[in-house]
Amino acid sequence: MPTRLVVPNEIAPGERRIALSPEVAKKLSATGVSISMQQGAALSSYFKDEDFSDVETVADAEALYKDADVIFKVTPPTLDELKQMKDGCTVVGFMIPSKNAEMMQLMCDKKITSLAMELVPRITRAQSMDALSSQASIAGYMGVLMAAQLAPVFFPMLTTAAGTIRPAKVLVIGVGVAGLQAIATAKRLGAIVEAYDVRSATREQVESLGAKFVDTGVSADGEGGYARELTDDEKQQQQDVLAKHIAMSDVIISTAAIPGRPSPKIINEAMVEDMKTGAVIVDLASEGGGNCVLTQPGETIEYKGRVTIHGPLNVAGELPINASGMYAKNLFNLVSPFITEDGNLELNFEDDVIAGCVLTRDGAIVHAQYKDK
Ligand code: NAI
Repeated sequence: MPTRLVVPNEIAPGERRIALSPEVAKKLSATGVSISMQQGAALSSYFKDEDFSDVETVADAEALYKDADVIFKVTPPTLDELKQMKDGCTVVGFMIPSKNAEMMQLMCDKKITSLAMELVPRITRAQSMDALSSQASIAGYMGVLMAAQLAPVFFPMLTTAAGTIRPAKVLVIGVGVAGLQAIATAKRLGAIVEAYDVRSATREQVESLGAKFVDTGVSADGEGGYARELTDDEKQQQQDVLAKHIAMSDVIISTAAIPGRPSPKIINEAMVEDMKTGAVIVDLASEGGGNCVLTQPGETIEYKGRVTIHGPLNVAGELPINASGMYAKNLFNLVSPFITEDGNLELNFEDDVIAGCVLTRDGAIVHAQYKDK
């Protein structure tokens, strides 16, 4: 019997993404797996049931989960969803393990194998499976569009009969995947762009996109290509230099993050106080608490009626057609090498990428980072 792969409606409030696209459904069914999707589940991503060829639609979640061997999800499964799944099935999706101890326990009790998309190793071979990157690049793009809409000034330079308008100055803080896409997007809109990161490798990347690198003299390269936390002295040095650039900016896009830690606080109140009237901060690090001390995740605030601070959450979900399409491709690229000729999914737990992202298996938390927690 081929593996029965199912895709439920995402029930998290405001979640518009879905873990399947018509294109990926076609590729998956060509491998021989049988696919079922909850009726209307993809409508929030603007895909109709009829767009999915060879996919059976099932009206309610309970019937969908009952015989499912593999479940594709975007957000972590809720306890209620897990209870409807059969013992020993496999769930693939974002798991946010640091916030979901009960979820992991129930997955262990039900001997569910879970693959956490945020734990897919950042190695070259796994780039096509890297959902953190696909979704972060959407966030970087959307963050700039949000800023352009909130800003009371043009981004490009304009020469008009009513005079010449100077281009906006955009500062991007944190130059990972989201930051790089933010730089490229702000440049395309015609802004003057500066960018800053604590990892030394980012200087070349910033310059190759035609932006100026802000050098604070602080370098904090950490393990695995990520940043480490700064010491108090380094933070002070960083703030002294950054404060000047922040004060000159019309727009700040901040994306700085350290894996498994709250977002580093980089923009303090005094810096916001010194910003231009009408300046905008789009804090893409809001999910982890924000890079600005004044950010309220999920809210847009006006600081003293002068500076807009926007703290959007689930930014990738704002572009659902592409976010779902890219995410579904990441899932397909992760599991498809393990589908046999008979359409059976047989994961190889010795494989580097699978071993790196398996969270629970055979009744235990197996991921090194979470197993003793
Ligand atoms: P992230 O979302 O964890 O962090 C965003 C950025 O914030 C990082 O560039 C980080 O250096 C920076 N940051 C942290 N603390 C900061 C501070 N105090 N001030 C300023 N900036 C600060 O990063 P993301 O986008 O997940 O990428 C992390 C690394 O993974 C990068 O080196 C990236 O090139 C690498 N990567 C590798 C891939 C692969 O080879 N498959 C795929 C994607 C990313």
